[in-house]
Amino acid sequence: MTTSVTQLPAWHALQHEQQRLDGQHLNQLFAQDPQRFERFSLRLADLLFDFSKQRITQSSFDALIALAEARDLPGAIRRMAQGELINHTEGRAALHMALRNGGTWQVAGQLVSDEVAHTQARVRHFVDALWAGEIRGATGQPIRHVVNIGIGGSDLGPRMAAHALHAYTGPVKVDFVANVDPAELRAVLAQAQPEQTLFIVSSKTFTTIETLTNAQSARTWLQAALGEAAVAQHFAAVSNNVAAASAFGIRPERVFAMAEWVGGRYSMWSAIGLPLACAIGMEHFQALLAGASDMDQHFMTAPLHANMPVIMGLLGIWNTDFQDAPSLAVLPYSHVLGELPAYLQQLEMESNGKRVLADGSPVGVHTSPILWGGAGTVGQHAYHQLMYQGTRTVATDFIVVVGADDPAQRILVDNALAQSAALMAGKDQATAQAELLAKGVSASEAERIAPHMVCPGNQPSTTLLMPQLTPRALGRLVALYEHKVYVQGCIWGINSFDQYGVELGKQMARNIDALRNDPAKLDASTQGLMAAVDACRC
Ligand code: F6P
Repeated sequence: MTTSVTQLPAWHALQHEQQRLDGQHLNQLFAQDPQRFERFSLRLADLLFDFSKQRITQSSFDALIALAEARDLPGAIRRMAQGELINHTEGRAALHMALRNGGTWQVAGQLVSDEVAHTQARVRHFVDALWAGEIRGATGQPIRHVVNIGIGGSDLGPRMAAHALHAYTGPVKVDFVANVDPAELRAVLAQAQPEQTLFIVSSKTFTTIETLTNAQSARTWLQAALGEAAVAQHFAAVSNNVAAASAFGIRPERVFAMAEWVGGRYSMWSAIGLPLACAIGMEHFQALLAGASDMDQHFMTAPLHANMPVIMGLLGIWNTDFQDAPSLAVLPYSHVLGELPAYLQQLEMESNGKRVLADGSPVGVHTSPILWGGAGTVGQHAYHQLMYQGTRTVATDFIVVVGADDPAQRILVDNALAQSAALMAGKDQATAQAELLAKGVSASEAERIAPHMVCPGNQPSTTLLMPQLTPRALGRLVALYEHKVYVQGCIWGINSFDQYGVELGKQMARNIDALRNDPAKLDASTQGLMAAVDACRC
């Protein structure tokens, strides 16, 4: 019988902390503790993690750490690192750390580092040859355009990182196609020359309908231009299902394997990163891996109270289960990190969007927050209004890249710092009224308008700040979120590494045609919608 976290004395201690802090504003907590920033911030290399704008004091922080100890988090971290089958429903390890720094990693007692090194050497050989113009198409022209066809974990990570590291790209243009909506592939092919284009079909299972449909469409496009025989030179694949990739017609030397102990949403470090490596080259791809390895070492060795992923994970649980914050906004103040929220949506919500404990009993608390977000300052002119004057607590991660010292960049960074400060401080009625009077507004008008200007503040946030968004810095950042997610899964007592829920919709999509006209199996609304669709197609 897995113990629900609500049974733990440590959880009850946190409920006590929640009551004790209820009604206290962050402004007061800063006023009471001039050392608050030093107390509640951490650094790892050039990454600063400032969590002092979270609604905690030293005793609530200690109570969160006590919860992690009560849940034997150090043991859970060890079990993951030792390659135990922690993904107990699928009987798999979750050893994405083994992809980052060589070392001697084992899965269920079997050494896996050799196969990791072998695949990395194959990826390096391919990418170096591609950059050198030695990978040629059916007409002999060097491949200069790579199109990755994949979805979910076989798309979001490499796409996000290629966008984030645009400044590090080389001679090969890389595009990503995920949606089965033909418009996405069409738009990419409209910019493509068949002679110079190579498709990478990325799919752990090689069974995902969107990916197989797009791969087939790409093949038809290529064949129309260059003939059937050209497929072999213009396709590669990344998969755990090597047989299916070969059956699709991809030459064995162009199939890059990924291990089953790498979860899709944790796979950008594996051969699934091939399109990313094609974009930024192996030196920068290695630096990305090294950054993630920095965070791995920190996660595995730092004491809980000074461990960035552990603290970030615990604060997320504090906000979700004790501060009534149902969502997490991730706001990168960096245009090139614009794809990060979408990537983190899969990482966090597909991992921890779960409702049962290991033994299948209800988890008993809220689990993954709803993650959303977008690039700053763009979001300020869209959804920040709700964060200032809405009725919900919104927990926020601000991600700040200091960057070059130019006027526009200064405005960007100033706004990031100002937003977390203003969302915390708020504005009370007296201040609003005084401002209106100072502008010459009449007393009665000021009294009428001021309530509409009040911002309660007290919005909790964390700021992650780095000088530059280098490949190594990005590696650290992404690994931080991966480990934070694992920490939360361990505390909640859920399996962060399966995703059975998504199969229901896929199954129905596969059968929907067969279910037509069977009201016993398909609800009236969907029947009605299908009839409406048919009418549109006539
Ligand atoms: O449907 C969800 C999912 O299984 C994700 O977990 C995965 O990343 C994605 O689909 C793509 O799967 P594959 O890489 O097997 O095509």
